[in-house]
Amino acid sequence: MLWRVTHPTTARSHPPGPPPRRASTLGRIRDGLPFLIDPIGFVGGRFQRYGDIYFVGSERDRHPGLFVLRHPDHFEEVLVTKARSFDKGHTAFATLGQLLGDGLLNTDGEVWRRQRRLLQPAFAKKRLDEYAVAMVAEVEAEAATWRAGEDRDVAAAMMELTLRIVCRTLFGYDASGDTEPVRRAMSALQGSLAGIPIPLPAFLSPQARRMKRARADLDAVIYGIIDGRRPGDPHVDLLQRMVDAVDEDGSTLTREEVRDQLVTLFLAGHETTSNALAWTFHLLSEHPEVEARMHAELDAVLDGGALTPEHLPRLELTDQIFTESMRLFPPIYALSRRASEDVEIGGWPVPRGSEVTLWVWHAHRDPRFWDEPWAFRPERFAKGAGEGRPRLAYMPFGAGARACIGKVFAQMEGVLALAAIASRWRLVSSGQHVEPNTRLTLSPRGGLRMRVERR
Ligand code: HEM
Repeated sequence: MLWRVTHPTTARSHPPGPPPRRASTLGRIRDGLPFLIDPIGFVGGRFQRYGDIYFVGSERDRHPGLFVLRHPDHFEEVLVTKARSFDKGHTAFATLGQLLGDGLLNTDGEVWRRQRRLLQPAFAKKRLDEYAVAMVAEVEAEAATWRAGEDRDVAAAMMELTLRIVCRTLFGYDASGDTEPVRRAMSALQGSLAGIPIPLPAFLSPQARRMKRARADLDAVIYGIIDGRRPGDPHVDLLQRMVDAVDEDGSTLTREEVRDQLVTLFLAGHETTSNALAWTFHLLSEHPEVEARMHAELDAVLDGGALTPEHLPRLELTDQIFTESMRLFPPIYALSRRASEDVEIGGWPVPRGSEVTLWVWHAHRDPRFWDEPWAFRPERFAKGAGEGRPRLAYMPFGAGARACIGKVFAQMEGVLALAAIASRWRLVSSGQHVEPNTRLTLSPRGGLRMRVERR
């Protein structure tokens, strides 16, 4: 059977894998370097050698090691059927926590459940319908500023656009003047996640100092937004919901708690969508036949009129294009968890404290689940196509209880942005060699310069 996972047949206590990571600083640098240079290729090579699940031990005391996964059935175990045995205590989330505080993305247990209950209504159908109207206004305004013949960094333009959309829809805030501190905070965060962690006191570590500065800049913007609101103000957005929230015990959210949620939504809600859009424009420029079909769909559906949210259900191909783009370039290309108790994955014992990495990128390009996985073929996501494929072979938004809260928001935003821009403009490759930059999210390295042509 095509999808069967190979189960362990040896008497080993952990899956096969490379020699343990060394404990010395020099050893850690040597071990970490090949991964840092090309994480996707490096991990792919190890999957080829060791199979669907491999183990990286550590010489460091009390470090139970790392399990690396690529099979959708194993993803299902970690994120769905055995999700209770995992938390977000992974090292990657510790760094994220320095900037995000205790926001929805990186808390666990009862604290997370309470936060999710509070935020979920902001993503209900009725709210999303309202956001769609604001999204159309933002994407149309963006498309109207572009000029024929100009050379644009499309990745940077999408970053600013998606940030404005999150701020306007969720916080009722016009972010046009405030994008610089957010950009700097993201860059500091990405930098600190990309390096090999060297145990230096904070005052000696340039990464730690950059992060502290970035946090201070970002907080100035965020607290500015929060302090503009009072309980009972007549706004219906998520920010007002948090300012007004009263828990069962009568307590309200502190200013810091509101700050942590805002920063989380600020960051989780714009960089991912903007990268997905940048990759989509890149893929379209490389596949003129797909681009031509999308233009034909847009022309037929819009019929010379202005884009509205009501067009969304009929923009089927545009939706499939955005979906297929996230298969080839998933903005969150790997997920991380820590085992909070002893558990089994793929039949292997995973001791409490072990770290687990789920390589979404590799599942998305696994030839067992995708014909010609390297090919850009949006029709893979047409209705009825792909039957028999394991559910989590496609997982750009995660899965289970911790799946992305902004999934529908992002998909809608992506399709509307594509529709608004591509109904007026064609983006032509500038000849730049485009390759993925694997930091916190997957972005085109060095931006994405394209020439804007009138259609
Ligand atoms: C294409 C765009 C997006 C992608 C690919 C994406 C991807 C993801 C993924 C993979 C997760 C799960 C992380 C994990 O399991 O560790 C996640 C969680 C999350 N996302 Fe998104 N996301 C996108 C857009 C958004 C948007 C627009 C928002 C908010 C407006 C958002 C807010 C969040 C939050 C708050 C979480 C944490 C949810 C929880 O743990 O309960 N994301 N996202």
